[in-house]
Amino acid sequence: MNILVTGGAGYIGSHTCVALLAAGHSVIIADNLRNSKRETVAKIMQIAVKEVAFYEIDVTDSRAVDEIFMNYKIDGVIHFAGLKAVGESIEMPLDYYYNNIVSTLVLAKACQKFNVNKFVFSSSATVYGDNTVPFVETMDLLPTTNPYGETKSMSERILTDTAKANPSFSVSILRYFNPVGAHESGLIGEAPNGVPNNLMPYVTQVAKRKLEKLRIFGNDYPTVDGTGVRDYIHVVDLAEGHVAALGNLINGVHTYNLGTGKGTSVLELIKAFDQANNIKIPYEISDRRPGDIASCYADASKAKNELGWEARLNIYDMCRDAWRFEKNHK
Ligand code: NAD
Ligand code: WQD
Repeated sequence: MNILVTGGAGYIGSHTCVALLAAGHSVIIADNLRNSKRETVAKIMQIAVKEVAFYEIDVTDSRAVDEIFMNYKIDGVIHFAGLKAVGESIEMPLDYYYNNIVSTLVLAKACQKFNVNKFVFSSSATVYGDNTVPFVETMDLLPTTNPYGETKSMSERILTDTAKANPSFSVSILRYFNPVGAHESGLIGEAPNGVPNNLMPYVTQVAKRKLEKLRIFGNDYPTVDGTGVRDYIHVVDLAEGHVAALGNLINGVHTYNLGTGKGTSVLELIKAFDQANNIKIPYEISDRRPGDIASCYADASKAKNELGWEARLNIYDMCRDAWRFEKNHK
């Protein structure tokens, strides 16, 4: 199939392009490079030993999007393009609502106009809010405490209503848990600008001595050791989840958790990092981070039963591959 991958030069998008090419699909990337680099497109082609088409466009620009649909017979869209920093979304709510909502509207409209019925959307476990773990797809969504999270709940709603009105539209909403790690080649991975907000890139930068020590945000949560518990998922597993979702699209909207189903605390993660890479991460305990919840992990059974997909890689693989990328990355 010819798949339009918005945000395909980004962290999860680039790994998914590699997985799509390996599965025999053709890939057309649309990315404005706001949070990624053009070199990543070359690296995708280097890993896959295949060509991809690349359009440096903003997917909120409906004319530019329509032009791609006119140039190619698009069979399906995977929509990754979006802004994703929780803290920044509180400072710049209008940018986040505009970018993340308008991009979804423009792409859904283009699908209607050009009769494209396959749509896969990047959502987030953040839409569950502070529900009881494990999070199941049937749970009511709770407020997310930040504009970023709200853009995901709203986009889910927009796609659900669109599919209701258009019975041949097939949408897969994928709720990612905490994507980490990198491709085993070490060529592509997560390279945040500035000081990382997320745990794994922070840990790898401490390991590289770019940062002095990790601050653990609270050790008084009701968890195994008091630190926050998350469902870390290797980005290569996550990428393969998209190929599975695309291959199993059925009419209507279907929502899947993409996680491992296993929670890991912050202290467990830095212990696993030491075991995988033989590097001790210095840390101090600091206050809780506002907006954080104690525990977040998936009930991952629906994706396994309906898509035939489950995560293969464990926390040691994630720590090893994240570190390999950080070491190689200038
Ligand atoms: P990323 O920032 O690495 O990738 C997003 C890509 O989209 C970037 O290359 C950026 O340049 C591009 N982009 C943003 N706005 C655009 C626009 N208007 N037009 C064209 N390109 C645009 O982020 P990621 O981690 O790969 O995340 C991909 C998607 O998955 C996002 O929608 C994100 O919200 C979602 N998600 C990410 C996580 C995570 O922890 N990384 C978790 C859950 C959901
Ligand atoms: C993980 C754990 C922190 C950094 C965020 C978004 C979410 C989704 C994934 C996009 C928590 C602790 C972290 C640090 C720490 N993104 N931590 N010191 O908060 O689960 O999810 O990314 O959809 O929407 O909110 O991920 O990696 O920031 O934190 O102790 O320097 O690590 O408190 O327990 P989070 P994270």
